[in-house]
Amino acid sequence: MNDAGPGVEPFYAVEINRLANERARRGLPVIHMEVGQPSAGAPRAAIEEGHRALRDEPQGYWESGALKERIAALYGERYQLARTPSQIILSAGASGALVLAISVQFRPGARIALARPGYPAHRNVLRAFGLTPVELDCGPQTRFQPTAAMIEALDPAPAGLILTSPSNPTGTMLDHGELAALARICRARGIQIISDETYHGITFGRHAHSMLEFEPEAVVLNSFSKYWCMTGWRLGWAAVPSRLVDVMNRYSANIFLAPPTLAQHVALAAMDGRAELEAHVATYARNRQLLMRELPGLGITRMAPVDGAFYLYADISHLGNNSLQWCRELLDATGVALNTGRDFDSINGGRFVRISFAVSTRETEQAIELLAGWLRQGKPK
Ligand SMILES: Cc1ncc(COP(=O)(O)O)c(C=O)c1O
Repeated sequence: MNDAGPGVEPFYAVEINRLANERARRGLPVIHMEVGQPSAGAPRAAIEEGHRALRDEPQGYWESGALKERIAALYGERYQLARTPSQIILSAGASGALVLAISVQFRPGARIALARPGYPAHRNVLRAFGLTPVELDCGPQTRFQPTAAMIEALDPAPAGLILTSPSNPTGTMLDHGELAALARICRARGIQIISDETYHGITFGRHAHSMLEFEPEAVVLNSFSKYWCMTGWRLGWAAVPSRLVDVMNRYSANIFLAPPTLAQHVALAAMDGRAELEAHVATYARNRQLLMRELPGLGITRMAPVDGAFYLYADISHLGNNSLQWCRELLDATGVALNTGRDFDSINGGRFVRISFAVSTRETEQAIELLAGWLRQGKPK
């Protein structure tokens, strides 16, 4: 009996985060750019609504009809698409929505294509459910995103394709034409699309299109974690085609019982907190600009074009091929915590780091200064 788990790999961001927290406990300064979470919390009015709900509402199993309506309306506002509230399945983050999406649609052994580099939980959850990830080697030539030609070349056709735009770890996006071409090839080959749109709302001068504009049969994952700054509240959703509504609700009830109650109250109020949330996006935009301007001067010249999300994926192979060790040493010497690309790409990730810039602009400036000082000493090789 093998109890090692079905190929689920370690999460290095968690290891670096643990080291960073140990350092902070020793009273040393840390700039947290290793984990993918906004340093701000939910909008102020949403937190107040949380206090009210805690005082006035029973915190039993519950699903908020008003929230489902509000999310359905978001598809009209953002993409001019009509969704009914019943097509919104609330879940414990986009993570919960992914579990539902794959468990209702695929049987063990099914092959599911996805980009490498990519969000590690996609690949690891597929494995945990007995599915086979088919990694598409996506490099700078295709801005780290899959293309229709890559899908066409897969033989046999996979049962599913997971897309992430904007991507974690690269922040790159699929544009209108690329999404349309991917939708066409998947339809022609009978491939079910799961589109992870967790970072919609955080883009820099480009409009994020939903896969639903091109393929109404796609399952879309989304979350309150990133744009709405509610990582720990654990709330997200799947937007699903009508044919999947009943089965998704059955799976959701059996696997999760109900989405987190308090989080649903807070999320509904957070959806009215646009001014505050847009100010966070403006901070990310400034931080992105700073990093893109300053890193080349430090010799870090190869980085993915960041269209959205709050990540910069930089090639540091001129400094060595073990970015995990490099991140540990950088943290130890400076207090700047970054993540190794190995979380996202088990083959080439040792040459990359991911910088999460959802921090303050002051912290971004300090991180650049500290990194510059460390690199000037010529320590890393
Ligand atoms: C692409 C992507 N999908 C899903 C998630 C999980 O988000 P949630 O907190 O909603 O479970 C993340 C978190 O980093 C992510 O980067």
